[in-house]
Amino acid sequence: MFTIITGAQFGDEGKGKIVDMLAKEYDIVARFQGGDNAGHTVVAEGKTYKLHLIPSGVLFDARLLIGPGTVMNPKVLMLEIAMLRENGIEITSKKLGIDAKTSIIMPYHVALDGLRESKRAVKIGTTNRGIGFAYVDKVGRDEVQMADIADEKRFEKRLDELLPQKEMAIKELGGEMNISRSEVDEYLKIGKQLKPYITDVSREINHALLQGKKVLAEGAQGTHLDIIHGTQKFVTSSSTVAGSACAGLGVGPMKVNKVMGVIKAYITRVGEGPLPTELKNDVGEHLRERGGEFGTTTGRPRRCGWFDLPIARKSIDLNGYSSMALTKLDVLGGLLNLRMCTGYELDGKIRDYPPELTEELSRCKPVYTEVIGWSEDISGIESFDELPGNARKYVELLEELMKVNIEYISVGPGRMQTFMK
Ligand code: GDP
Ligand code: IMO
Ligand code: MG
Repeated sequence: MFTIITGAQFGDEGKGKIVDMLAKEYDIVARFQGGDNAGHTVVAEGKTYKLHLIPSGVLFDARLLIGPGTVMNPKVLMLEIAMLRENGIEITSKKLGIDAKTSIIMPYHVALDGLRESKRAVKIGTTNRGIGFAYVDKVGRDEVQMADIADEKRFEKRLDELLPQKEMAIKELGGEMNISRSEVDEYLKIGKQLKPYITDVSREINHALLQGKKVLAEGAQGTHLDIIHGTQKFVTSSSTVAGSACAGLGVGPMKVNKVMGVIKAYITRVGEGPLPTELKNDVGEHLRERGGEFGTTTGRPRRCGWFDLPIARKSIDLNGYSSMALTKLDVLGGLLNLRMCTGYELDGKIRDYPPELTEELSRCKPVYTEVIGWSEDISGIESFDELPGNARKYVELLEELMKVNIEYISVGPGRMQTFMK
């Protein structure tokens, strides 16, 4: 059984929470793209874990895999392993596998990310983790791989070739080369520690599937941040849609059994780029405060807006969702006049699907349907039937308009604050 979970909006939909909730049923949980730009929050057993690289199934017995389509900063991984150890969770090589071909984020990638962003007239608002430049090197065949940092000779040879180029690239952007001998040694030290974790992710997963085991692929970022289909240039540098899990983990598409989209009951975006339903008023403030909408990775306040159906429709197409998990329904409580964006007005015409170009999307004016809200606190509710009538109606309307089954409803950050519809 192979399940793929992706974010259906612009990231931070609550993927970490949903993956944690489902993980006990799975034998393997794997990350297939992105890097530590991701911030996935898991709240369980009275603790909050903010995960950037380790798959969100970490609190259960599942084997965790980091696939070769990801970009991995080894220093961040070591900090995360230490954080988990402090919380009594030991990440041994039995627990975690890292593909030999995983791209390594080097200090020059982080430096280049910051320098390039500072020079952009129109900013992207990256997380400054070096993601884009690590993927540039992957595509340009100048990457350093996990296997390289675990082998001193290979790593030194790679650096001999790469460092002069990187030095020039950094200089061109007005920066200074920042990789010192001690940093190389630190990478080598981590490489040695991680050597036992190296594995062939595609082989492991295909073998597990043949044995009838259950594998969960955990997406990072969100559909509209996809490098191919998203709102360029305001996107991340990897493919975030469900198909990317097959490519990134090396699993054939005929093996996929289930594709679940995680979607908030409203919408948020962090960083730049169009967000047609953005609310720069007290309703937006309500969503940010009640929803705790501050970046898990950067702490930046997230931009908030009403649920955007055209955006959801396109996500459903791009991922082929077989079901959805609706999160943060509780956050809408207390807003008595809710709105749902069912279409856009663009150049005098009404449309129900986002236009192809980012510039056009940024000119779209939302067309709203008014929905009556509820005042009750629903964060303790445990079944669909117990929800206030208007909350039930909101969910039913969403389901009817999206034409995809809402399988789970989340009403709070905790693992238990979820029920099946
Ligand atoms: P991810 O990147 O998709 O994993 O999402 P993040 O963890 O970055 O952001 C989601 C935030 O919302 C986290 O702080 C979660 O703990 C929290 N959260 C998830 N589901 C719910 C929910 O149903 N209600 C509330 N109030 N918070 C939630
Ligand atoms: P999770 O997995 C929300 C955004 C950044 C920026 C753009 C490019 O927690 O949902 P990058 O550093 O990737 O080059 O930045 O993408 N971004 C995210 N927004 N959630 C994320 O991850 C994000 N990862 C990147 O804010 O706008
Ligand atoms: Mg996040």
